[in-house]
Amino acid sequence: MEEKKRILSGIKPSGELTLGSYMGALKNWAAMADEYDCFYFLADLHAITVRQNPAELRRRTLSQLAQYIACGIDPEKNTIFIQSHIPAHTELGWVLDCYTMFGELSRMTQFKDKSAKNADNINAGLFTYPSLMAADILLYQADLVPVGDDQKQHVELTRDVAQRFNNVYGETFKLPEPFIPKVGARIMSLQHPENKMSKSESDSGGCILLMDSPEDIRRCFKRAITDSEMCVRCCKDKPGVSNLMQIYAVCTGKTMEEIEKEFAGRGYGEFKTAVGDVVVETLAPIREEATRLLADKAYLESVYRAGAEKASAVAERTLRKVYKKVGFVAR
Ligand code: TRP
Repeated sequence: MEEKKRILSGIKPSGELTLGSYMGALKNWAAMADEYDCFYFLADLHAITVRQNPAELRRRTLSQLAQYIACGIDPEKNTIFIQSHIPAHTELGWVLDCYTMFGELSRMTQFKDKSAKNADNINAGLFTYPSLMAADILLYQADLVPVGDDQKQHVELTRDVAQRFNNVYGETFKLPEPFIPKVGARIMSLQHPENKMSKSESDSGGCILLMDSPEDIRRCFKRAITDSEMCVRCCKDKPGVSNLMQIYAVCTGKTMEEIEKEFAGRGYGEFKTAVGDVVVETLAPIREEATRLLADKAYLESVYRAGAEKASAVAERTLRKVYKKVGFVAR
């Protein structure tokens, strides 16, 4: 039997998970468990490139773990772990810093965006973020890295760094491919549908959080921005309506044509209520399960401990190989 390809991905616990995280990532991650050997982690080391409140970060990390599982990522079938539990990430991160060029890091759009947004805290970690991310991926010899569009550049840099290292020291790292899902990849803001749905917008109603109450979710969809055409149709110049259709499609499994037919001649009010309802139906069981798991600290602990054990066995092997190749004396 051919070995399963390995998948690796992670999300920073720097904000709450959103409907966009679910539709663009978690739902797809959960579906890949049978076909692939999946590693999913909580990127807490990456979260501190922006200042965090310690108690909040700890709470959010555990809550994110509970939400991963509630979204269907089964700890029995996937390796789920917390990044900071595996020292090899920071260790390989440092080595890769020495094989990543200043010029390359300077060109990263995420660095440029984040330094513009955090002008008072442009720290070195924000700058070298991509080499830590390269370490996350290369430690596990991942074949595929499911990421949103915005992370493609980082996966490409990872390939360049891996290739550079392999050229000097011989085959060490597998070259990973970015893996960008076709459907539901990009859920947009309900208030500014030209922008990606972002947790920074959860106060203004543009963003749905996975843990939002049914009433909040329904209210946000009622207020969602549409247009003046009064026709449920998916196209470029109808970003608001197209986004709502996309969300409806992911929740119901219906095609765009089916949705157009279903709402032909009906108003936006009815359409928006229907979208709100199917989102509530989709998220309610996830929220309930996450709440239940979050109350069971012993269970969550058993999940991240078992995950760390599996992950560190793989990560340590790669790190030993790297240390040997660069010429460090074995202890
Ligand atoms: N940089 C990713 C983000 O901001 C999170 C991340 C960190 C990641 N390391 C990773 C994603 C490794 C995929 C693989 O969303």
